[in-house]
Amino acid sequence: MKRILIVGSTGQIGSELSVKLRSIYGESNVICGYYKPPFPKDFFELGPCVEIDATDINQIATTVKEHKIDTIYNLAAILSATAEKNPKLGWDVGLNSLMNCLDVAREMNCAVFTPSSIGAFGPNTPKDKTPQDTIQRPNTVYGITKVMGELLSDYYYTRWGVDTRSVRFPGIISNMTHPGGGTTDYAVEIYYNAVQGEKFTCPVKAGTYMDMMYMPDALNAAIQLMEADPSRLIHRNSFNIAAMSFDPEMIYAAIKKHTPDFEMEYDIDPLKQAIADSWPNSLDDSCAREEWDWKPEYDLEKMTEDMIAVLRSRLLQNT
Ligand code: SER
Repeated sequence: MKRILIVGSTGQIGSELSVKLRSIYGESNVICGYYKPPFPKDFFELGPCVEIDATDINQIATTVKEHKIDTIYNLAAILSATAEKNPKLGWDVGLNSLMNCLDVAREMNCAVFTPSSIGAFGPNTPKDKTPQDTIQRPNTVYGITKVMGELLSDYYYTRWGVDTRSVRFPGIISNMTHPGGGTTDYAVEIYYNAVQGEKFTCPVKAGTYMDMMYMPDALNAAIQLMEADPSRLIHRNSFNIAAMSFDPEMIYAAIKKHTPDFEMEYDIDPLKQAIADSWPNSLDDSCAREEWDWKPEYDLEKMTEDMIAVLRSRLLQNT
């Protein structure tokens, strides 16, 4: 049985990945590293957790040793729009934390999963069906940390044999913990507004396409890749994965089918628009499909049905 440490377990992905990993590997085998509130509901009751500042290597090393960890899911990151406002913080959390995880993993023989992102691409990258191996010249700090992270992770694998694996996540849509300060966050917020009967103000223009994915598929991707037969992996850091690509008009139309009175207007955030414009419209994920059988379950329609149902039952139960 694996012994897993999640670094950054209270964030958008971590709060749901921890539940899923515990259901697979057992509560006591998944240690949730947390840094700061807000903590997900019942966080401290659901299994072991440890306070960890991922920028401090000693804290990671001590936890890995004490809990006999063999696999690290390193989710510490500052998302794209926030990192643009505080590049030093984006760098420290995004990259120094990763290097700490990699050094501890090398020393103590752990596997490491680290998310990369569609943000690892830039304005010179082919925009449609972006290939697995292509130009990566991002123009955001977030993107730079992701490219560096991919290269470092591959380096630790080829140079030291550390079992590093990664996927390039699209914008992730979920209903448990809000994302913080990403460019794709609008595609989460829009559902909350729709269900609560509020008009939505969209920060990116109609016609701005980005790859997106529903959380259950994102969790499956991470776990499936970490369980994949290493002899089949030609790539490691990092795999393109894709599930759906849409612009604001398409998600609005999908939601409106369930909430006919829902209204949307635009008030463009120039920072988010510039970031979105520099990212691909859609990724080609054929390498992930070939090397570890990646296959998403949710498209825009199916995700929308589920998001609306879950949020309705949670947000409207007392009204
Ligand atoms: N969701 C991230 C962001 O928007 C991209 O991976 O920053």
